[in-house]
Amino acid sequence: MSKGVTVWFTGLSGSGKSTITRILEKTLRQRGERVEILDGDVVRTNLSKGLSFSKEDRDLNIKRVGFVCQLLTRHNVIVIAAVISPYKQSRESNRSLIGNFIEVYTKCSVEACAKRDPKGLYKKAQSGEIQHFTGVSDPYEEPENPDVICETENETPEESAQKIVLKLEEFGYIDKQ
Ligand SMILES: Nc1ncnc2c1ncn2[C@@H]1O[C@H](COP(=O)(O)OP(=O)(O)O)[C@@H](O)[C@H]1O
Ligand SMILES: [Mg+2]
Repeated sequence: MSKGVTVWFTGLSGSGKSTITRILEKTLRQRGERVEILDGDVVRTNLSKGLSFSKEDRDLNIKRVGFVCQLLTRHNVIVIAAVISPYKQSRESNRSLIGNFIEVYTKCSVEACAKRDPKGLYKKAQSGEIQHFTGVSDPYEEPENPDVICETENETPEESAQKIVLKLEEFGYIDKQ
């Protein structure tokens, strides 16, 4: 059984956070681990419903997600947070708060994300229909020392998920298989 840990995904919209999360969740569940997911899109329809994309509201959103991660992590759940979390300071605050924390950077250029555009948001951001869009009209601060980098332009989602599983094993959060 696992020790609690928060697997914190950060990366641009369309960089692969939700896709890799789903695979990671499945793999961990198959290994008998307790897993919970806090996906940005879902969080913004309940826990953070009504918040905007200003820096202040983004920070508040990340603080709320971090708070829930902390509660679950201390009850030995593997919590996967898949949120853009563009600001380094917010991510670092959560790392300090939670302690058992792995930062995963889904690295993908804005150009490639815009080409994928799974939700049609880049098109809207580029035309100005959506404002404060990360990577287009809002900042994204890259992590300097992420625990795992998923190069989603060069590896499959399965390979990325596997890297994270190995890191969880390496750090002793889950048993090796
Ligand atoms: N190697 C990869 N890893 C993750 N997603 C990929 C990869 N290659 C292509 N994709 C595609 O990119 C899109 C990523 O979207 P999504 O996972 O929703 O991103 P995010 O949650 O970061 O906004 C999906 O349509 C997915 O199929
Ligand atoms: Mg997503």
